[in-house]
Amino acid sequence: MIGRLNHIAIAVKDLAGATATYRDVLGAKVSAPLPQPEHGVTVVFIELPNTKVELLEPLGANSPIAKFLEKNADGGMHHVCYEVDDIIAARDQLTANGARVLGDGQPKIGAHGKPVLFLHPKDFCGTLVELEQV
Ligand code: CO
Repeated sequence: MIGRLNHIAIAVKDLAGATATYRDVLGAKVSAPLPQPEHGVTVVFIELPNTKVELLEPLGANSPIAKFLEKNADGGMHHVCYEVDDIIAARDQLTANGARVLGDGQPKIGAHGKPVLFLHPKDFCGTLVELEQV
């Protein structure tokens, strides 16, 4: 069902510092910071030859990554995003197999303007999984 790895998201407290690390130490191509108030994060996109890394910094009072950063003071891997062809079919197959979809189970428009869902980390090896329809 799942296809390509679309991105790995890393939550950080200091976006400028994290961006400098990826640019200057790892030699990666990094984007300008992009505030996404509707998602409660500011994002820097790191384009790799085969996938993307997204650095996420909390934006606003109710950021979905604030709690994660309380528990992970140095930052850390927040989620992985896999591509699917049909997000509704994927959701129905997953829930039929006992996996839990977060929220109301309806796809939302994600950071790339495409429908996304998040799956409960307890059902996937302790990793929050995002599905994106491409
Ligand atoms: Co994501």
